[in-house]
Amino acid sequence: MAAASLLKTLFLNSSLSPSPPLLSFSPPHRRLLISFSTTTSKITSKTKKKSKKTKQNQKPTTKNINDAIKDDVKSKRLADLAAVKRRTRSDKEFDEEAVLKFGDSGSHIPVMLGEVLEVFGCVQLRSFVDCTLGAAGHSSAIIQAHSEMQLYVGMDVDPVAHEKARARIDDILHAKSCSSALIPKTHIAVENFRNVRSVLSEVDKNIKVSGIDGILMDLGMSSMQVNNSKRGFSVLNNGPLDMRMNPKASLKAEDILNSWPDTELGRILREYGEESNWRSLQNKIVKARLSGGLHSTGQLVDLIRNSTFNAKGGRQGWIKTATRVFQALRIAVNDELRTLEESLHTCFNCLAPGGRLAVISFHSLEDRIVKQTFLNIFSTSSDINQAIAEGGSCSNDKDAIKLNRAIDEQEAWVRQMIKGKNAIILTKRPITPSEDEEKLNVRSRSAKLRVIQKV
Ligand SMILES: C[S@@+](CC[C@H](N)C(=O)[O-])C[C@H]1O[C@@H](n2cnc3c(N)ncnc32)[C@H](O)[C@@H]1O
Repeated sequence: MAAASLLKTLFLNSSLSPSPPLLSFSPPHRRLLISFSTTTSKITSKTKKKSKKTKQNQKPTTKNINDAIKDDVKSKRLADLAAVKRRTRSDKEFDEEAVLKFGDSGSHIPVMLGEVLEVFGCVQLRSFVDCTLGAAGHSSAIIQAHSEMQLYVGMDVDPVAHEKARARIDDILHAKSCSSALIPKTHIAVENFRNVRSVLSEVDKNIKVSGIDGILMDLGMSSMQVNNSKRGFSVLNNGPLDMRMNPKASLKAEDILNSWPDTELGRILREYGEESNWRSLQNKIVKARLSGGLHSTGQLVDLIRNSTFNAKGGRQGWIKTATRVFQALRIAVNDELRTLEESLHTCFNCLAPGGRLAVISFHSLEDRIVKQTFLNIFSTSSDINQAIAEGGSCSNDKDAIKLNRAIDEQEAWVRQMIKGKNAIILTKRPITPSEDEEKLNVRSRSAKLRVIQKV
């Protein structure tokens, strides 16, 4: 247990710490890590000397000004390096054609499509589960790319997404049947991914034993949801204070704002919105109850705009605060964080040996949960034991060695992995979209992709 917690600490602070003996990185990346820390310490000590000199000589000469500019440039460069080492930017060429083919600018553009295809590229994907269908952009591309697929399961808690996705997947299957390719057994359900195990049992009794080869979670909202003002997700379009992904669920954002206890309201603004001004907002929202409460996103945005110090708008202004408040409410309405954590464990347990779970998250709270849950899965064997008890399966050591070798040799996209006895975290650092993708799809900017594989 002590080893597990040490491992966790080292992983969480991986940018500063040497690799613990249990972890295994391929040599070039280890070199990269060491050379980075050497550069950092050199730059830091030089910068310190310079700033001492600058302080001694108070007169603003041209030399002082130039030194100050140089120091500023150096510290900016350091900050850039620090940002880079926390994630791995994808260097995959952005395939606009594929994105246009499988995405739909009228509904939703799949994020990191090429990277996701690469994650499952070397896997014999006989069975695949998409936990977050949306407009089925990822699903369509994956079904098309894997002619060996025998079972496909798609889930979305939103019936609108379900309808859209079904039509697109039917088209793909129809095209497959015309070319006499293998048509996978397909099951598309309006379901919360927290019920993935029961959905799989309904579809195929044996799947619990053989396991699933690939599972994808592309979290958050689809553009179809954000762009429909009636759903209440958008800061910029007025609509009802709803924010339910599942329109049949009972709790709406309006209920939280108008009737939850003050302390609970404050807690979600603080914890789920990470909003520093939470107390003042909490007080204003509670005060608004005295004059009938809040019933539209427009009213909530007005309240936020009036209480935000820098009321100019833009990234630094009220829009930033409003985005945080909306995020907090959406997480609470849909119980997103608890659902995610539980479902990650369940999905991992449903994997076949060699099977992969890929997760795309869109904000730091989600990413933290994915990172920590992968670590928990990696550092404890209880989940594996539970999986076996529940009918899941595990492979032997020989298979594990073969698998590791195959990843090392064949998969260039894997930069740094953490290999354990029962699981391999294939993304020590999350993969983020290429610069081209970020330019073309603003929504992709906060995306982070993490992948774990069952051994
Ligand atoms: C970002 S979109 C997925 C887009 C999809 N990958 C595509 O390429 O079109 C996220 C989807 O996940 C769904 N969703 C969010 N939470 C869910 C949950 N707990 N269970 C099932 N679906 C969920 C949302 O309704 C939304 O349609």
